[in-house]
Amino acid sequence: MTVQDALLSVQDLRVSLRGRTLASLPQLDLRAGECVSIVGESGSGKTTSLMTVLGLNRGTGLDCEGDVSLFGVDPLTASEGRLRRIRGRQVSLIMQSPQSALNPTLKLGTMLMRVLGAHGVGKSEAQTRMKAAFASVRLRDELADSYPHQVSGGQAQRFAIALALALGSQMIAADEPTSALDMTVQAEITALLRELCADRGLGLLLVSHDLALVSTLADRVVVMKDGAVVDSDETVRVLTRPSSEYTVELINAGLALGGGA
Ligand SMILES: Nc1ncnc2c1ncn2[C@@H]1O[C@H](COP(=O)(O)OP(=O)(O)O)[C@@H](O)[C@H]1O
Ligand SMILES: [Mg+2]
Repeated sequence: MTVQDALLSVQDLRVSLRGRTLASLPQLDLRAGECVSIVGESGSGKTTSLMTVLGLNRGTGLDCEGDVSLFGVDPLTASEGRLRRIRGRQVSLIMQSPQSALNPTLKLGTMLMRVLGAHGVGKSEAQTRMKAAFASVRLRDELADSYPHQVSGGQAQRFAIALALALGSQMIAADEPTSALDMTVQAEITALLRELCADRGLGLLLVSHDLALVSTLADRVVVMKDGAVVDSDETVRVLTRPSSEYTVELINAGLALGGGA
C-alpha cells in the first residue's frame, strides 16, 4: 500500500433500521497523515457511521449497504477473523470514556502486554513497544503500575492512544475522544492527536459534536444532521463558505462557546 492509498474509503453508505435511515454517507476517504471528521449534533448518525465502517455494527439488526474499504477489506462482508486482525493492528478505536473502556481489574502495563500478546507480539518486544508508546504520548513509565481508577481521564485517554501506537495501528477512529475531559486536558489530547497525524502519518477519523474542536484538527469535515450529510469539504471551505444553514448554526454555537470556529 502506498501513502497515496486510502486507509478507509466509503461510497454510498447507508445504515438503516426497518427502512428508516439512521446514517447515510455518500463519500469519505481517509489517507495516511490526514484527519477527517464527522461532525453533528447528538443523534445525527456519527457513531453509527463510525461503527459501521469498522465492521462493529454487524449482528445488531441494522441494515448496512454501500461500498466500503478498510485497509482493502470490506467491513460489511468480511469474516470476523479478518476484521479482528485489521482492528488493533491497523486501526484502533478510541472511545469517549477511556476509563470505562479499560479493564478495571488490570494494571495499565499488564493490560497493554496482554493485548499485544493476543496479537502475537512477544514479551520483550512488547516491553520495548510499551516504553516507546508511553514516551510518544508523554506518559510516565510508572503509570504502567496503575489501575485505571488511579489515573486521570486525560491519562487514560493517553494510554488508549499508546495502546494503539504499541499495536502499530496506522489509523485511529476516535468517537468524541475529548468530550469527557476538562478544557485544558481536551487541548492537550487534541494537540497530541494533531502531532501523531503530522509527525507519524497516522490517519485519524474523528467523530465529534464540536465543530470548533474539529476545525483545529481536521483536513476535511463531513457535517451530518438527522442521518444525512448536509456539508462536506475541506475544513477551510466549510468554515468560510458553509453550504448549509445547519453548518452556520454549528459555527455560531462554537463562537458562542468561545471556540476557534
Ligand atoms: N442499534 C440501534 N438500534 C436502533 N437505533 C439506533 C441504533 N444505533 C443508533 N440508532 C439510532 O440512530 C440514530 C443515530 O445515532 P448515533 O449514530 O448514535 O448518533 P450520534 O453518534 O451522532 O449521536 C439515533 O436516532 C439513534 O437512536
Ligand atoms: Mg455518538
